[in-house]
Amino acid sequence: MEKVFEVEGLRFTYKKNGVEAVRGIDFAVRKGEIFGLLGPSGAGKSTTQKILTRLLKNYEGRIEYLGKDLKEYDNTFFEDVGVGFELPVHFSKLTGAENMAFFQRLYKKNADVAALLKRVGLYEDKDRRVGEYSKGMKMRLNFVRALLNDPKILFLDEVTNGLDPKNARIVKDMIREFKESGGTVLLSTHLMNDVEELCDRIAFISGGEIREISTPRDLKIKYGRRELSVEYYENSETKLETFDLDKLGENERFMDIVKNRTIETMHSGETSLDDIFIKVTGEKIHE
Ligand SMILES: Nc1ncnc2c1ncn2[C@@H]1O[C@H](COP(=O)(O)OP(=O)(O)O)[C@@H](O)[C@H]1O
Ligand SMILES: [Mg+2]
Repeated sequence: MEKVFEVEGLRFTYKKNGVEAVRGIDFAVRKGEIFGLLGPSGAGKSTTQKILTRLLKNYEGRIEYLGKDLKEYDNTFFEDVGVGFELPVHFSKLTGAENMAFFQRLYKKNADVAALLKRVGLYEDKDRRVGEYSKGMKMRLNFVRALLNDPKILFLDEVTNGLDPKNARIVKDMIREFKESGGTVLLSTHLMNDVEELCDRIAFISGGEIREISTPRDLKIKYGRRELSVEYYENSETKLETFDLDKLGENERFMDIVKNRTIETMHSGETSLDDIFIKVTGEKIHE
């Protein structure tokens, strides 16, 4: 599959405090996928995204964008990418619509701003000053800003931060639609739900290093427990038994329950990505 980004031996140290935020990571982002960087606060997710979007320079290692060194691109690179970063940066004295008009002038290609504002529920508030917006409204405006230039690649950093469930749903639907229309997404998050709902592949990142890259499904198969828990009803009470998944059909006790009891629930021993993250990195995503 065609690679949009290929990253090799990427390292980055913040000069001012000497923090080595990224410590030699390798990964590729394929065309048309939603690739997630999952890890706790301070893992190096935002730094990685800032390097790939050319906000931070002076990195070590090699980054190719569409087969060519990122350093060889001129500013036309920015026509391809949409960036929705953590802290919304807007002009607080301008209205939402004025802010979008300002940023849109920086690009050749333009998306339909009114349609985007309607979709994220900000159209009614477009003529209010951004200084009066709530955190969630600023985040939604920030997301619209990322889509202003009708980008091919979307970089999203903690995109659902501060959004209520309804608005998080809208934003996630839009991300999926962006992918379905051929776009590529690189998102970073510390939220397992975002990853489970959106990502085709994820990289576990911890302490500036990538510890595992895979699909959510394969991670669960690799690190999940191969067992099945069965709750069944017997003598007017609910009982729970757990069986090994292997050779389940030859397990007489299991077969007896399946044939002769009323089963209430069955769960395979999938582990959550949070638990798998701890297994792989020895670190918790959430404090
Ligand atoms: N602008 C900065 N200046 C100095 N150090 C920074 C800066 N931004 C992040 N760091 C440090 O770099 C490390 C990685 O941070 P970051 O990339 O923001 O992680 P994440 O996005 O995974 O929470 C942390 O130790 C953080 O304190
Ligand atoms: Mg971050």
